[in-house]
Amino acid sequence: MLLTRRAEFSASHSCYNYALSEQQNRDLYGEYPGSHGHGHNYVVEVTLDGEPDAVTGMVVDLKLLKEVIQREVVDPMDHRHLNYEVQPFSTVVPTAENVAKEIWTRLEPHLRFDNAKLHSVRLYETEDQYVDFTGGR
Ligand code: NI
Repeated sequence: MLLTRRAEFSASHSCYNYALSEQQNRDLYGEYPGSHGHGHNYVVEVTLDGEPDAVTGMVVDLKLLKEVIQREVVDPMDHRHLNYEVQPFSTVVPTAENVAKEIWTRLEPHLRFDNAKLHSVRLYETEDQYVDFTGGR
């Protein structure tokens, strides 16, 4: 059974890579190395895969899931500039793909249960666009 909890945070980012030329950056990202960037209202959906506990009838305690997402993702990222204030984004381009992967990395160690584990992290950068990270490549 899949169980999902949603959270939101607002953050700024600027996508560029010093390994590419200024023109390549502009073509790829519409931004340039050192640009101040822009903000998004990110929505993250954290999905666990598990079996309801025989006694509680719950896959996990939703209060616990909410607290882990708040502590590991929302508190460190909300109202921050990802490039300048959140690691590893001083050196890793903070695309939605890479942010979703980082969210997985932060959450996964805290979401290991006997009857459930992290299944996927879905990150919406805009209403029309999201990425799913499922722990693989
Ligand atoms: Ni953006």
